[in-house]
Order: sequence, then structure tokens, then C-alpha cells
Amino acid sequence: MVKDFDFPVNAYIGGKWHKTAKTFSIKSPYSGEVVAEVADSGIAEAQAAADAAVEAFKSWKKLTAFERAKVLRKWNDLLIAHQEELGRLTALEMGKPITEAKGEVLYAASFVEWSAEEGLRVNGEIMQSRFPNKRQMAVYEPVGPVYAVTPWNFPTSMITRKAAPALAAGCTIILKPAEQTPLCALYMAKLWEEAGGPAGTLQVLPALDPVPVSKVLMEDMRIRKITFTGSTAVGKILYAQSAATMKRISLELGGNAPFLIFEDADIEKAVHFTMLSKYRNAGQTCVTTNRIYVHKSLESDYADALADAVSKLEVGDPLNASTNVGPLVEQQGLDKVVSHVEDAVSKGAKVRVGGKSLGGLIYAPTVLTGIQPGMRVLEEETFGPVAPIMPFEDEAQAIAWANSTDYGLAAYVWTRDLSRAFRVAEALEYGIVGVNDPVPSAMGSNLPFGGYKNSGLGREGGHWGIEEYLETKFISFQLP
Ligand code: SIN
Repeated sequence: MVKDFDFPVNAYIGGKWHKTAKTFSIKSPYSGEVVAEVADSGIAEAQAAADAAVEAFKSWKKLTAFERAKVLRKWNDLLIAHQEELGRLTALEMGKPITEAKGEVLYAASFVEWSAEEGLRVNGEIMQSRFPNKRQMAVYEPVGPVYAVTPWNFPTSMITRKAAPALAAGCTIILKPAEQTPLCALYMAKLWEEAGGPAGTLQVLPALDPVPVSKVLMEDMRIRKITFTGSTAVGKILYAQSAATMKRISLELGGNAPFLIFEDADIEKAVHFTMLSKYRNAGQTCVTTNRIYVHKSLESDYADALADAVSKLEVGDPLNASTNVGPLVEQQGLDKVVSHVEDAVSKGAKVRVGGKSLGGLIYAPTVLTGIQPGMRVLEEETFGPVAPIMPFEDEAQAIAWANSTDYGLAAYVWTRDLSRAFRVAEALEYGIVGVNDPVPSAMGSNLPFGGYKNSGLGREGGHWGIEEYLETKFISFQLP
């Protein structure tokens, strides 16, 4: 049943809530119910948003960083004050268990808090000159209006990871939230409005079909930056499209994270931490463990202990506070998980626990052994609650297998040997390495998040994140 929300489910353009000719339905992935009919933006809305973003940029960039920080700090406070509502919306529209979803809201707010502070430290530099009569400096300026396409798997934090540094730097931003999760984005826009965010600084264009909206904004020379989190396939299309207007680009794309457990690892901890890395958000994170390589001497004990722990996970309604694993977001995601497990089993893998759909969009948390090269669970990102375990002989083999992918977002290493920890962390071709740390990006608003190779370009978080929204201008003064 369509619910009553205390915020408009319209497009948010130029500080106004704009009704569109068409709407599209948002369904709860758990119950299958339609919970909202949301404005469906198209070409006209994208053009209006581009005009408003350009207009707002003229005055927003002229505010002092201190004035911008004041609005951001208020937004941070409001996000935290509305943690419950945003957590519920997340559980409702994409099925993340509510306890986890509420945690994500704090993660989202942390990007706003960090950016408000970091914006005050965008200082520029004065360089030494080779000429006695010259004074030379580099100043940083906001890159301009930004187009941001955000994913459904983190419907609050992936918005602030982009919007907060952009706004702190003095950019304006147009958000196109994933078609599965516009409600969180609209709620956050309402809070931005309440925080005193000027019209046109942050706008939201929900759209069922992103292509017409993206075409307008990608072709508009006045939009100076595109930032995207999502699939590598779409990231590559946006990368190619950005060339025509030479937009700055940040891409946070897919992963295929290896989890290496060496013979000196603490098995109990490795099991506990596999659970955190693998089953968070039903395995639907870009940094989720996709492949587990364990030293052959530990394989049997580790697999037994992991299967036992996984069988105790509570699976079901994401609005229930004790649920650990909720539904997958949509049928396509479930079909992929099913096909990966079927492929592995047909090639000889053994299901230790799970291995089946539980009705609706829920897939049972699964552990597989007997994994062989050539299985899709090793080669593709499963994006679901499936843990394939494969034994390795020695460190060199583990590193080679871990790096044998075109992706390079996150990798994990389990060892109590400090030399090995450094050796392996340095050998891994990944943007993020967790050494005995299953969630290195936890509350990571001050840390660099991003990948090598097909996993993307640029970094989000910390000073790296804000630099993505800055141009460097060199000014040289010649004295008489
Ligand atoms: C992602 O899956 O893209 C984000 C994961 C995180 O920030 O922990």
C-alpha cells in the first residue's frame, strides 16, 4: 500500500518540489508491496536542474568556506536527528536490515561533518619563485556544478560521500539517485532545505530511466564534473561520455574482493570477521568478500566454523531489529546469485550451508567448498550472501590468485605475522587492503576510498575526496 510520507516524493529542483507528468513505483523488496509513487524526471527536469545549478553556483562559490560549513554542520545534525526515519526508509526501499541501515545513517552524516571541517582547510599554496620580482601562488577553486549518480546499496552514505565534499568545496550538485532508492535522497534533500541550503545548491532528480536525464547533463558543458558509484559497465559509458565536454570524473565501481587466510591466522577471529565482510547488506557491497582463499592446513576447520556461524544468522524482515540478512534488492540480483551457485555446484562445488532461495527475494546465506578455477563465483562479482572457499598451497599462490582479476577495490589479509602482513598488503593490487580488518572503510569519512583497474578512478573521503571537486589555479604576479 502506498504510504504517506512527511516529505514530498517529487523532484527537487531549484529549491522547489516539482511534480512530473509521470511517476514510478517503489516496491519493498521484502514484501513486494508498492510503498511509493515517485516523480519520474526526464529531459525537461534535467534541463531545469542544470540551469538552477549554474545559477546557484554563482553565489554558493562566493560564500566563505565558514559560511558553507555552517549549513553543512546543520545538515549533519539533522541527518543524525532523523537517523530513525532514514534507517526505516532504507529498510523499506532497499531491504537493508534496519539496525545496519541506522548505522549507515551515522556513516552518511560523518561525511558531512568531515567535509564541513575539511572545507576550512582548502588553503592554496605560495611557491618559491626562480625570479626575484615574481610572487607565485596556487589557489583552489570549486570545479563547478556537479552531476552525481548514486547507488541503491548505500542510499544515504553514498549521497553524502559525494554531496558533502562537493558542497563544502563550493560546488553545486544534482543527484540522480538509483531508481530503487529515491526516498532516502528526497528525505535528505528536505533536510538540506531545513538546514538552510540555498535553492539550486543540492537538487534531486528521481528517474526510472536514467538515460534521458544523464544525456542532458553529460552533454551540458556547464556541468563540470560527473561522480558515479555503480557498475563498471555503466562507469565506462560515463567515462567515454565525459570526454566530449572534458568533465572531471570520479568513478567508484565494482570489485571482486579476495579474503586471504594464512596458516598463522586466528581462525575464530577470521570466521567472525568473514561474517562482517561477507553478509553485511546481504553481500551487496562493492567491498564485500567475494572469494575466500584459505591455507590448505586450515580449510576444513575454517569451513566448518564458518558454516556453523552462518547457519545461525537471522534472515527475514529488514524492519525487524534482530534481522541480520534481508532480501536482495531485485529479481536480477537474485537471479545472478542463483546462477553463480548453480554454476559452482554443476562444476563440483559442495553446499555446506544455504544454497537456495527462501522465497521472495531472499537467498539463504551460503557457504561453498570444493571451489575450482573457472567457476563464476571466483571470476565475477556475486553481490549476494555467498562465500566460496578455496584452499591455497603457499603465499605466492595466494597473492597470484588474489591479483588475478581486472578489479582492484578491496582485499583482506588474515595473519599474525607482521612481515607477511606488510609483504602481502604491498603485493596486492588493490585500493583498499584490510589487514585483520574486515571493514577498513567503517566510518571512513576521513580515509581514501577507491580502487585500481576496473574498480574506478579517484578517491572519496578525506582530503582526497574534497580535492576531486577542486580546480587548481596558478597565479603569477610580476612586480615592477
Ligand atoms: C560500497 O559498497 O560502495 C561502499 C562500501 C563502504 O563504504 O563501506
